[in-house]
Amino acid sequence: MFEDLAVAKMMHSVPLFLVCILFPAVQAIQLTKCEVYEAMKDMDGLQGITALEWTCIIFHSSGYDPQAIVKNNNSTEYGLFQISNKHWCMSSEIPESENICDMSCDKLLDYNLTDDKMCAQKILAIKGIDYW
Ligand SMILES: *[C@@H]1O[C@H](CO)[C@@H](O)[C@H](O)[C@H]1NC(C)=O
Ligand SMILES: *[C@@H]1O[C@H](CO)[C@@H](O)[C@H](O)[C@H]1NC(C)=O
Ligand SMILES: *[C@@H]1O[C@H](CO)[C@@H](O)[C@H](O)[C@H]1NC(C)=O
Repeated sequence: MFEDLAVAKMMHSVPLFLVCILFPAVQAIQLTKCEVYEAMKDMDGLQGITALEWTCIIFHSSGYDPQAIVKNNNSTEYGLFQISNKHWCMSSEIPESENICDMSCDKLLDYNLTDDKMCAQKILAIKGIDYW
């Protein structure tokens, strides 16, 4: 809260170009390892995968960046868990996707991880941990 206020005040008095220099990563804020670990706690032990293992998997998938997008040849992977638009979510690139997670791929790029985790659990149940 306090920080937000401080930033808002600065925004008023600092020219835009300076703000861009001071906050270059405003568009893509990586989570910390601890934040990811905390977020994975309610998935701890699912199919024998611990929260710590999830943290590791996520590090190697997206580097803890919820906005990570990786374009492959004919598909794209979205977000913290790098979920593919080929089968799991819906995007304009692959309108014939089965969309098993029943969601727009864009929703995998925000900082609300609830739906990401639900989709990851679906993938885990169907494909197993080898998906990652
Ligand atoms: C993508 O596909 C094209 C043709 O289908 C191929 O030439 C190219 O090597 C592929 N790129 C990757 C990164 O797999
Ligand atoms: C990607 O799609 C193109 C056109 O649909 C196809 O020719 C190509 O073989 C595909 N590449 C891969 C790696 O699936
Ligand atoms: C996060 O998303 C879920 C569903 O996708 C929604 O129910 C929940 O209210 C959202 N949480 C916040 C803090 O926006």
